[in-house]
Amino acid sequence: MKTIDDLGDLRGKRVLVRSDLNVPLDGATITDDGRVRASVPTIRRLADAGAKVVVMAHLGRPKGAPDPAYSLEPVAVRLAELLGKDVTFASDTVGASAQEVVAGLGDGEVAVLENVRFNAGETSKDAAERGAFADELAALGDAFVSDGFGVVHRKQASVYDIAERLPAAAGGLVLAEVDVLRRLTEDPERPYTVVLGGSKVSDKLGVIDNLIEKADALLIGGGMVFTFLAAQGYGVGSSLLESDQIDTVKGYLARAAEKGVDIVLPTDVVVAPEFSADAPPTTVAADAMPADQMGLDIGPESSEAFAARVAASRTVFWNGPMGVFEFPAFAGGTKAVAQALTEVDGLSVVGGGDSAAAVRRLGFADDQFGHISTGGGASLEFLEGRELPGLQVLEG
Ligand code: 3PG
Ligand code: MG
Repeated sequence: MKTIDDLGDLRGKRVLVRSDLNVPLDGATITDDGRVRASVPTIRRLADAGAKVVVMAHLGRPKGAPDPAYSLEPVAVRLAELLGKDVTFASDTVGASAQEVVAGLGDGEVAVLENVRFNAGETSKDAAERGAFADELAALGDAFVSDGFGVVHRKQASVYDIAERLPAAAGGLVLAEVDVLRRLTEDPERPYTVVLGGSKVSDKLGVIDNLIEKADALLIGGGMVFTFLAAQGYGVGSSLLESDQIDTVKGYLARAAEKGVDIVLPTDVVVAPEFSADAPPTTVAADAMPADQMGLDIGPESSEAFAARVAASRTVFWNGPMGVFEFPAFAGGTKAVAQALTEVDGLSVVGGGDSAAAVRRLGFADDQFGHISTGGGASLEFLEGRELPGLQVLEG
């Protein structure tokens, strides 16, 4: 992949940077600014090189038209604080405001365009419609830097099509993320343990399928574990369950057994009568869940077993919380796994927006882990062995 160095002297050049600034917001308050912080080094580097830096990003999934609930303005404010310099905000993506803001940039100055998903062309499946929007974006720049690792699995105008229209390079964040994920797929140090959680098995099928070939153990928690427990013939009460995936999961269990890969499931579960922060928690054996209760976390015995396995590994990838960590009574499993990752002698990787937000919310610091990926879907697709359009287009 081309790098920023390959773009030559950037002084006075308008450089469009695609960043992933898709942060969780509570009203206009950013609840986890990890992705903004991760985007700062490349933006600063370009500004320091004298470029006129134009940041493109999305927030949430607006429906292809302006929607104030998804404005990037509060994110631009946070970016300015972190950069320690002014950031001009354009109130549209490619319209009069964007054109005026870009034309007014001096060397080393930074602007952020409004949410690119306010334009239907950004996410269109129709290449011509996407291309038309990419043409308008490209008219605002002289070069393109792809630094939004969290969106490189998306074939979208500001990620993919624009790279075909301008001299293009990968930014430092994309290069760093790819470097770490390669270490997880090419000859990882063993034992290699993968911890998967989150609510749905159907989101993780591809990665489970591929990692059965590569990892030594898969530890399963979160809402998705109940489909595994059901596949083993256990009742799961009123827990999350994807009945249509039970047969697929049975197939994984059989294939893992054949390959000698351990799929480790919890032996105990914290259950409650309802999904709420003050529902009374009870710990039960995983094979004896009461019919009228739902599992909201892995139990303490399982947490200890998962933690021991993680801490003894040389390579660990973790995606997805073990339970409803937002509720303190059901955060034990996620905390135990996070703690164990900090003890790994080797490479520990926290994958994904949600898992990254979880570890910070539980009070861990970024530097306690080998790497915290900014990409959830993107890191999973990478580990599935799929071609990511936003990376592929930088190779051409
Ligand atoms: C994410 O949060 O997963 C990335 O920012 C990509 O967003 P998307 O899933 O809406 O494309
Ligand atoms: Mg996503």
